[in-house]
Amino acid sequence: MDLMATQITPEMTVASVVDRWPDTARLFARYGLSCASCAIGKTETIGQAAAGHGAGRVKLDELISDLNRFAESGKLPEGLPPANAAPSLGAKGVPRGMAEQKGIKHVIAVMSGKGGVGKSLVAGLLAVGLKRRGFRVGVLDGDITGPSIPRMFGVKEKPMSPDQKNLLPPKSRGGIPIMSMNLILPSEEEAVIWRGPMVSGAIRQFFTDVLWGELDYLIVDLPPGTSDAPLTVMQALPVDGVVLVTTPQALATMVVTKAVKLVKQLGGDIIGVVENMAYVRTPDGKELEVFGPSQGLKLVIAANAPLMAKIPIDPEIAHDADNGDIESYTSSEFDDLVDNFLKRAPMKEPPKQN
Ligand SMILES: Nc1ncnc2c1ncn2[C@@H]1O[C@H](COP(=O)(O)OP(=O)(O)OP(=O)(O)O)[C@@H](O)[C@H]1O
Ligand SMILES: [Mg+2]
Repeated sequence: MDLMATQITPEMTVASVVDRWPDTARLFARYGLSCASCAIGKTETIGQAAAGHGAGRVKLDELISDLNRFAESGKLPEGLPPANAAPSLGAKGVPRGMAEQKGIKHVIAVMSGKGGVGKSLVAGLLAVGLKRRGFRVGVLDGDITGPSIPRMFGVKEKPMSPDQKNLLPPKSRGGIPIMSMNLILPSEEEAVIWRGPMVSGAIRQFFTDVLWGELDYLIVDLPPGTSDAPLTVMQALPVDGVVLVTTPQALATMVVTKAVKLVKQLGGDIIGVVENMAYVRTPDGKELEVFGPSQGLKLVIAANAPLMAKIPIDPEIAHDADNGDIESYTSSEFDDLVDNFLKRAPMKEPPKQN
């Protein structure tokens, strides 16, 4: 994306600007235009929004120059509201303020610089491992275009709405509540046309309007990449920590550096990194590094966070993940992942009884 070539003008719609640079929602919010990330701003230009909201006190020139400064430098001015303070779209189109769920103690986002490295798998494994250790855990599929999470847990049921307002998430066989756009939309293709503000509103509702009950950890599977999609989700939810997943191959392409930068930009905390598909174990016990040598150390330096696990390419993982049977997977690397997560995770209370 060529940021330098961009000029934001008062004639552009609020939605188009927020869609392209989700962080500008925070700038708009500072100018009293807190509808920036919801559907209200969809057709309104920045000029119209400035005239019609914020009691007419919005200084359009300053707003435009702040927006352009951000588009050029990628830096937000100091003292803005936190990343997740952008307003949400309530059930009746009312901006609701920061997404909140008192029953959920910690939100953990699983992220990767690029697609297909096993992010959904790590999100699923973390949830399964934490559940096995007695923690109360749920999984929110933030990748609205992909079916990975429901498929991995073998969940096909639609969420129920006992009160016509909130949604009761279906549970996996092992009792993990799961929420995914894939369980709601009639076809997978429909999600593809969704735009940033709509995704952000939907994800926030997955958080606030879903009857998660009491959870120690809500694991969020973010969309792939370092573009607007994961950013939109990160901003919609009060994320406490990020787990970064990569492969030895991916490190070489700088995607990890980009992902680290993105998390930092959002003021997030990287709890740890996972090197997936690190090697294949041959029948005679050798470890074959098919994607090149392990980049564990470089990874730790790039992310300034510990390596939580090196997961091998394991046909059993692929089989279990593709057949809705992830909850029956066991391996020593999987145990490492959960042990190390708990060492650094934002909560160290003893496990709760379900
Ligand atoms: N360590 C592994 N061993 C074997 N198969 C694996 C391993 N990790 C992931 N897979 C398989 O690779 C595929 C991609 O994994 P996954 O869907 O978790 O990646 P992702 O990063 O979430 O992808 P996307 O970017 O599409 O969301 C899946 O079919 C999964 O079962
Ligand atoms: Mg995925």
